[in-house]
Amino acid sequence: MYVNVPEIWLRDHCHCEKCFHPSTKQRLIETFDEIPADISIAPNGLFEDAGMFRITWNNGHQSSYDKGWLQARFDSTNSSRSVERQGLVELSLWAAKDIKDKPPAIDYDEIMASDDGVKDWTRLVRQYGFCYVDNCPPSPEATQSLLERIAFIRHTHYGGFYDFTADLSKGDTAYTQLGIGAHTDNTYFTEPAGLQLFHMLSHTDGEGGVSQLVDGFAAAQLLREEEPRAYDILSRYCVFSHASGNDTSSIQPIRSKPVLDHDGCGHLLQVRWNTTDRARIDCTVDQLQSWYDAARKWTDILKRIEYWEPLRPGRPLIFDNWRVLHGRSAFTGKRRMCGGYINRDDFISRFKMTNYGREQTISPVA
Ligand SMILES: [Fe+2]
Ligand SMILES: [Zn+2]
Repeated sequence: MYVNVPEIWLRDHCHCEKCFHPSTKQRLIETFDEIPADISIAPNGLFEDAGMFRITWNNGHQSSYDKGWLQARFDSTNSSRSVERQGLVELSLWAAKDIKDKPPAIDYDEIMASDDGVKDWTRLVRQYGFCYVDNCPPSPEATQSLLERIAFIRHTHYGGFYDFTADLSKGDTAYTQLGIGAHTDNTYFTEPAGLQLFHMLSHTDGEGGVSQLVDGFAAAQLLREEEPRAYDILSRYCVFSHASGNDTSSIQPIRSKPVLDHDGCGHLLQVRWNTTDRARIDCTVDQLQSWYDAARKWTDILKRIEYWEPLRPGRPLIFDNWRVLHGRSAFTGKRRMCGGYINRDDFISRFKMTNYGREQTISPVA
C-alpha cells in the first residue's frame, strides 16, 4: 500500500531521543516553533534498511521509522481503531436465559493476588458487561480494596466509596426501599461513570430487593433488527438529565446526548437510559411523539431480556455502566450496601494494560 504522508507529519513523529522521551512517551519537540513549515527530506535523504526508513531532513536532523509502525498508522480500519481505543473485545451479548445458570464470576482471592486476576476480571466485564466476585469478605474495607484493584474511586456529589442503609440520607430513590426500574447511572453527567460495583453487606428483618440487570447492547441490537427507525431516533435525538435532589447542587450535563451514543466510527459506545432523572428532550415539538414511540419499543425489549438475581453478602457485583442497565425490586427491612464508581478511561486503561501489555497499549496511539 502506498500513501502520501506529509513531511511535517513524519518529522513531527520522529522518535529519536531529542524529539520523544523514551520513558514518559511524550513529545519533546515544540512542533510549531522548532519545525519549519517548509521542512522537507534532503536530496537523497531517504533510504530503506532492515525494516526501517531512515531520513535526513533539509536542516540536517535525522529520523528513523519502523515500517510496521508506520504501516499500522495508516492501515488501521475503523474496527481496529475501536479495538485500540476502547479495548473492544468480541462482546457476548446476552438475555437472561443465556447467563442465568452460569453468570460470569471470578474469585476474590484471584483478583487480590496478582494482576493476572485483574486481567481476567476486567476482561469478563468487557465481554459480558458485568461480573460477580465470589468469596469477598462482607466488609466495606475488603470491598473498597477490591474495587481499587481496577483504579481509584470516582467521587461525585454523593461522595466516593459509599456504605449506606436505606434512610434517604441522600436525595435519591437509591436511598429508599422503592423498586427502581432498569437504568444507567449518572446520565446527569456529560461522562457517566464507566463501572459501578455494589456489595450488599447485609439484609435483615425483611425481604425483596432482587437485583435486575439488562444487557443494553443486546437490547440495542434487537431494536436495530426489529425497529430500525426507532433505533435511528434514539441514536439521533438527544436528551438532558439532572440530579437535583440535594439542596446544594443541581448537576446537569453541559450538552444533551442520545440514548444510544455512537463513536466516530459508528460503533455503539454507550447506553444512557434513566427515566427517573430524564429532563428535557432536546428535539422539536413535532419530533417528540416519535421519540416517545421509539422509547416505548426500547423499554419493551429491555423487559424481554432482563435478568433477575438476588445480591448476596460476600458476592459483589460489578457492571459496565455504559452498557448494562440495573434496577431492583422493592424490599422491606434493612439493607446495608456499599460500593463505588470507576471512571471509564481508568477502567479501559487498566483493561488494556493487563490484557494487551504496556507496549501494545501505547504504541498504536502514541
Ligand atoms: Fe442506579
Ligand atoms: Zn528527532
